[in-house]
Amino acid sequence: LELEKLVVPKRVKEAEADDGKKRVTILYGTQTGTAEGFAKALVEEAKVRYEKASFKVIDVDEYAADDDEYEEKLKKESMAFFFLATYGDGEPTDSAARLYKWFTEGDEKGECLKKLQYGVFGLGNRQYEHFNKVGKVIDGKLEEMGAKRLVPLGLGDDDQCIEDDFEAWKELVWPELDQLLRNEDDTRVATRYTAAILEYRVVYHDKPDPSAEDQAHTNGHDVHDAQHPSRSNVAFKKELHTPESDRSCTHLEFDISHTGLSYETGDHVGVYCENLSEVVDEAARLVSLPPDTYFSIHSDKEDGTPIGGSTLPPPFPPCTLRNALARYADVLSSPKKTALLALAAHASDPTEADRLKFLASPLGKDEYAQWIVASQRSLLEVMEAFPSAKPPLGVFFAAVAPRLQPRYYSISSSPKMSPNRIHVTCALVLEKTPAGRIHKGVCSTWMKNTVPLAESRDCSQAPIFVRTSNFRLPADPKVPVIMIGPGTGLAPFRGFLQERLALKEAGTELGSSIFFFGCRNRKVDFIYEDELNNFVETGALSELIVAFSREGPAKEYVQHKMNEKASDIWNLLSEGAYLYVCGDAKGMARDVHRTLHTIVQEQGSLEPSKAEQYVKNLQMSGRYLRDVW
Ligand code: 2AM
Repeated sequence: LELEKLVVPKRVKEAEADDGKKRVTILYGTQTGTAEGFAKALVEEAKVRYEKASFKVIDVDEYAADDDEYEEKLKKESMAFFFLATYGDGEPTDSAARLYKWFTEGDEKGECLKKLQYGVFGLGNRQYEHFNKVGKVIDGKLEEMGAKRLVPLGLGDDDQCIEDDFEAWKELVWPELDQLLRNEDDTRVATRYTAAILEYRVVYHDKPDPSAEDQAHTNGHDVHDAQHPSRSNVAFKKELHTPESDRSCTHLEFDISHTGLSYETGDHVGVYCENLSEVVDEAARLVSLPPDTYFSIHSDKEDGTPIGGSTLPPPFPPCTLRNALARYADVLSSPKKTALLALAAHASDPTEADRLKFLASPLGKDEYAQWIVASQRSLLEVMEAFPSAKPPLGVFFAAVAPRLQPRYYSISSSPKMSPNRIHVTCALVLEKTPAGRIHKGVCSTWMKNTVPLAESRDCSQAPIFVRTSNFRLPADPKVPVIMIGPGTGLAPFRGFLQERLALKEAGTELGSSIFFFGCRNRKVDFIYEDELNNFVETGALSELIVAFSREGPAKEYVQHKMNEKASDIWNLLSEGAYLYVCGDAKGMARDVHRTLHTIVQEQGSLEPSKAEQYVKNLQMSGRYLRDVW
């Protein structure tokens, strides 16, 4: 960021760091970069407002090497802000997992953070049951540990406009910091802060350097991301739905031999996919440059000084515009307000510039919510509507198009059966947006279109990596398991069942298992039907129960089948069974959770509060696990 300097009165009231500056630490736990972006934006603005303070912004994972260090370090802080995202089933991001554990587990910590003043901004989505759980929990824990809350917890809601939530929260932060970080002698008044538009330095090259292009598989991500993707070939692909289906579900196998990758049953795979060539062509047309333009981007000036105080994501390797647009640019999501401002700054038609600025302004809030968010207008559609806006490449990749993020899938195989391959089961995302565009999900479309090795030596490849999960079979194979996973929620259970089959074949005695699967119609989307039947025949699975939602006159879902099997479920739970749910968080997992409550309450003849406690205990003891999205 290059900042327009502003004038602020300063008054130092707090303890100072060694260099005479009051120190403020800003920690973020980010998965897709939003929390990181907000943390850095707060710091950039704060640096301009409070020249006598020093700010350190850091990934929570990097902040402390081990759990004890969190305690040691936080005890020394006098002021800290936390930006923490909540995922899936109320979980922290991978990077914040250790911090979260430190706050929520282990010995009683007492009022160990009495010296600390703090603020928390949570990033979540109101559509989910555990909206902003991580932010809420850490905000509460900090208070319990004696820290002083400077501002109310910020509840960022990605379902609406999370940028607005952040802006509103920031307005609560400044008056507090004005009190604490300004100089006594400064009588100037803060008037205005405008973040200038981010821009990489771009160098155009005549001749492509093929060796540089080759390295592009890291997808421009810093290795510190704990993500060292490894380019893997697609070894096998097949369609899982029958030809009658009006939808599509792809079974894909990545070859991980010689990649250094390995996985456990229940893990996730992160996939860096590419945009379709039609999308790339459209994007190149909108930025008005030939797709074979060969260039590199740099986050430092020619003299080596960092641009915008290192707020820019690390540059991706030199490549053609075609590759840059395919691999690194998210052009199908709705543009953020900062992107609209960047477009406005490069719109030659003043009417267009004004309209873009209006959409990004507080006055244009409702229109932004309607015309952009609710209509699911993509960045490409917005650029199409403002044809005079032609951002240069350095601006386009820094401020207009966010980095294309990896997509995560529950691995649908077990290394016990398939040590050299990672299987993915992926439903095609294909829907008409309210604005009338046919939206093709980036990664599911890529998967559907992949060319496996058997069909061509130029088979499809993608940089992939494995993310560990806590979705694991019980350590003791004799413990019974209850699995609930309609649709592609089946994925990890296919892995579980492969593992159980391998154990069985090795002579291990298995506890009983029951799998509730759901699909629309036996003839259309009963995926892996033969394999599932085989698991039953071989005894890897004791019972398979399928809910067909569109065969009979009324919808039948997995939770209805659970009700029918209520006493079996209760008996298994009483024997110490583990219960697993995988699939859609907003509908299915929520409904299944309610059904579980009812079953426990009725079958156990428990008071509602006792039933709730029972389910909570299941969760706390790691016997009720959810892998939901
Ligand atoms: P539907 O599409 O007929 O509504 C896999 O997607 C299966 O899960 C489908 O049969 C789908 O049914 C069903 N499903 C949709 N919403 C659900 C919910 N809230 N709970 C359980 N199953 C659901």
